[in-house]
Amino acid sequence: MDISEIELQKKEAFDLISNCKNNEAVELQRIKYLGRKDGVFTNLIKQLPELSADDRRTMGPVINGAKREVEGAVDKKLESLKAKNSQLKAGIDITMPGKKIYAGHLHPLTMVEREIREIFKAMNFSVIEGPEVEKEYYNFDALNIPKNHPARDMWDTFWLRSNQKNSKLKAKSSKLLLRTHTSPVQVRYMEKHKPPFQIIVPGRVFRYEATDASHETNFHQVEGLMVGKDVTLANFKFVIQEFFSRLFKKQVVIRLRPSYFPFVEPGLEVDVECVKCGGKARLLHAQAWRRQGCNVCKNSGWLEIMGAGMVHPRVFEAAHYNPREYQGFAFGLGLERVAMIKYNIPDIRLFLSGDLRFIKQF
Ligand code: FA5
Repeated sequence: MDISEIELQKKEAFDLISNCKNNEAVELQRIKYLGRKDGVFTNLIKQLPELSADDRRTMGPVINGAKREVEGAVDKKLESLKAKNSQLKAGIDITMPGKKIYAGHLHPLTMVEREIREIFKAMNFSVIEGPEVEKEYYNFDALNIPKNHPARDMWDTFWLRSNQKNSKLKAKSSKLLLRTHTSPVQVRYMEKHKPPFQIIVPGRVFRYEATDASHETNFHQVEGLMVGKDVTLANFKFVIQEFFSRLFKKQVVIRLRPSYFPFVEPGLEVDVECVKCGGKARLLHAQAWRRQGCNVCKNSGWLEIMGAGMVHPRVFEAAHYNPREYQGFAFGLGLERVAMIKYNIPDIRLFLSGDLRFIKQF
């Protein structure tokens, strides 16, 4: 008998015990190594008296230590089998591959809106919100669009029925509607704040009009308003150019085009050079683009993206500002149009279609 033989027996016992699949198999190994009658370690202990006094002194502790370690291995194995059995009884199979949970994500419009908020916040604009159910006064009158003015036809409106029974009160209170643009928040904000300030107003707007690939009845705008003593269109051009460059992550060419909105003077429309063809589709010599065409800008080379202008003096008056003291610019950006350009989406109706094949692409 020597120490290496005992070590070998111990290792073999460990391996066999750890490979046992159930309690019965462990019991067989326990009997084999620790059994009272014929166990390997029991026999080794029985042989001790035959050794010399010196060998007994060295081998005794080694054999007893090894026996205790094997006893420990048996107990540990029985414990782990017990734990596994109780998990199986509870219906948990820890060896089964886990079920994948489908984690949703933000809607592309929410992603673009959040990005726009961050860009403007970095340029020191505050983010303001306003009501979706709006008074006729803020949506039209305060914005220099009086009743019976033909400009009201620019915004096909969803009117809300009043629940005011008294016809005198009904006539007195402002009629309610679903706001057709985010511009009413301009006057709401100016009524309560003094310049200088710069704000953006992201929000949902509603129009009673036929839908097509670039028009929805329910869409989003981001209004912008900057008012102070020396604010000019040059400031507007810089802010907007910077905004598009940050949003599209490259230098973007913009075009300002004269236009008409009753609440600005002068009024303008902002076009962005098409982010897909870079404006090349409109050039006769760009043969490749002429042939294949650009589905984003429909070969015009430009994308109409917002209305803007210098705030009209009458709008300042509605907010009780002195138009001789202050001036400012305002703009209204179509959020869906921006998202369509950013992600190359050919039809605005896809956003609210509820089609998962569309949504999962983002
Ligand atoms: C307005 O709504 C003005 N309030 C914008 C404005 C604000 C002008 C401040 C001057 C100063 P307009 O109707 O053009 O303007 O709409 C602005 C943008 O909203 C459009 O450029 C377009 O991007 C988007 N838009 C307009 N109608 C729809 C629609 N039916 N579906 C989707 N987007 C639309």
